[in-house]
Amino acid sequence: MVLTMEEKNIEIHETAFVTSSFRAFDEKLSQDTFSKLWHNSKTEKWIEEYLSQVSSEETYTHCLRNRYFLEAIKELVAQEKIEVLINFGSGFSMYPFLLNENLLHIEIDKPEIVEYKKKKLEQWQKNKELPKRDIRFIGVDFSTNYKDTLLQEITSIVTSKPSFILIEGVLFFLDKEETDRLFNFFDLIQHKGDYVGSASFPDTLKETVAFKNLISFFNKKVAKTNENDFQTIEDEYYQTIKNYKLIDHQDYFSLSAKYNNAVKQGKELILNENFYILKKQ
Ligand SMILES: C[S@@+](CC[C@H](N)C(=O)[O-])C[C@H]1O[C@@H](n2cnc3c(N)ncnc32)[C@H](O)[C@@H]1O
Repeated sequence: MVLTMEEKNIEIHETAFVTSSFRAFDEKLSQDTFSKLWHNSKTEKWIEEYLSQVSSEETYTHCLRNRYFLEAIKELVAQEKIEVLINFGSGFSMYPFLLNENLLHIEIDKPEIVEYKKKKLEQWQKNKELPKRDIRFIGVDFSTNYKDTLLQEITSIVTSKPSFILIEGVLFFLDKEETDRLFNFFDLIQHKGDYVGSASFPDTLKETVAFKNLISFFNKKVAKTNENDFQTIEDEYYQTIKNYKLIDHQDYFSLSAKYNNAVKQGKELILNENFYILKKQ
């Protein structure tokens, strides 16, 4: 895959490099000691612009997102409640290497992303920069009709093992119909007692300076595949998903208090992403 990062034409999948670099900014906060492997000079240039034009708090919001889901998953693994982590739109996140080696991983993203990630991980494992883990990669575009093939692929790997599905940093790029299809799909592959972790921007954020900055930055720089608005999701959506119960809801401010992060900017200047954990009933 050729990963170009031309100034005016950033592909959506390339945002995965940025997320990883943000996590590496404060390893103590993110607890991610491997994301720095994705560092490259092109991403660095974009990050500089992003932090000054959108919100300088973004490094910390991303570190805390990683920390929250990592600790939630760790706890469920310790309690023997989950055996598989299925990451939808996994990008370059490094959870497999931060979690117990017995956990099985399924990483799903666009074909070019999973191909590239697989190749890089193999190279780093060969050099002993990364430990070995059981990761199965599946290339899928969520805007396509993936249901039957993906269902078959996932069920053949998961069998009856309890799972945690993670979807973070992705729903912003999808539309409502694609989102509904994904949550219906989660219901198809999961059993009672399984978990979903999701991150999204609430509707109320739309009025803030930070969100307006984000939209203007993305409209200027990012090659988007469709013309729809970038998606925000109201809390109620998570409270009313069929067969699931919302069991935890956090945001940047609650996680800052929990993990001792000093909030630096005013509320208006922060992209306050919200984090949800659902349990299948
Ligand atoms: C900002 S990155 C987040 C990556 C990862 N979840 C993380 O938090 O580090 C967004 C990811 O969503 C994936 N993505 C966006 N739209 C997608 C689609 N239609 N189908 C599959 N993956 C998609 C991108 O390829 C990219 O890896």
